[in-house]
Amino acid sequence: MQLNFITFAAQSQPLGQMIFYMSLKDTINMQKLPRHIAIIMDGNGRWAKEKGEDRLFGHLHGVESVRNIVEGCAELGIEYLTLYAFSTENWDRPAYEVTGLMELLVDTIRKEVPTLNKNNIKLHAIGDISMLPENAQKELKEAFEETSTNTGLNLIMALSYSSRWELMAAVKQIAIDVKAGSLQPEQITQDTLQQYLSTSSFPDPELMVRTSGEYRISNFLLYQLAYAELYFTNTRWPDFRKDNLYEAIIDFQNRERRFGKTGDQIREEIPIS
Ligand code: FPP
Repeated sequence: MQLNFITFAAQSQPLGQMIFYMSLKDTINMQKLPRHIAIIMDGNGRWAKEKGEDRLFGHLHGVESVRNIVEGCAELGIEYLTLYAFSTENWDRPAYEVTGLMELLVDTIRKEVPTLNKNNIKLHAIGDISMLPENAQKELKEAFEETSTNTGLNLIMALSYSSRWELMAAVKQIAIDVKAGSLQPEQITQDTLQQYLSTSSFPDPELMVRTSGEYRISNFLLYQLAYAELYFTNTRWPDFRKDNLYEAIIDFQNRERRFGKTGDQIREEIPIS
């Protein structure tokens, strides 16, 4: 574990000095946690290749990081964690990799539901779930039911997800409702659009993390990330652990979030006039 060293003179101590070891976690401001963290888990393939292994070996180890980060978020009291586990574009990967990822998904859900329940974590999914193999859909449905009454961390898996797919589906449904007369075009506001997205019941992410040194959003929550703080790290996903998460959160806490206002307005809390 990474340690920060805080040294100060303690007058009452005979040695005149005490050394306190503070973990990275201890330096997090618990009053300023992001409510929702979204993560693009990237670098499994490269991590495996660097070890002379097959890409699936990287995904397998990526699951260890998922476990560790979910646990870390639950311990901190983060309310929402969205993980980009499989994109719409990932269907175009070699068949053996897609099959391997789907098997890993089914296996992981089956094994992890008791741990989710033990930690009061509620599972959700966003994306075109109907594209997933039937056994994966069944496993997911059961996991949603079995975790539905949990009240702690909301774990949202983005599966067969892309933002452009989501926006297309939202626009299509709006058109259907307008045609049916249940929605009038003049009633459509930004809130209406938000309500048609697959994330309608979640707040927007405040922090987006991408691992493995790529500086892209890659069709992930394009609408919802409008005001998110973006954090990029070179660490490959299978090496990403709680301390890496804490570093991202501490970085987030040192940012000035302005939401279009001036820095002075934010610092002095001057109301917009
Ligand atoms: C990106 O790395 C990762 C993925 C496409 C899949 C992420 C999946 C996991 C972490 C496993 C848990 C998820 C499930 C579905 C059980 P990459 O393969 O694009 O890596 P590269 O950019 O180095 O090639």
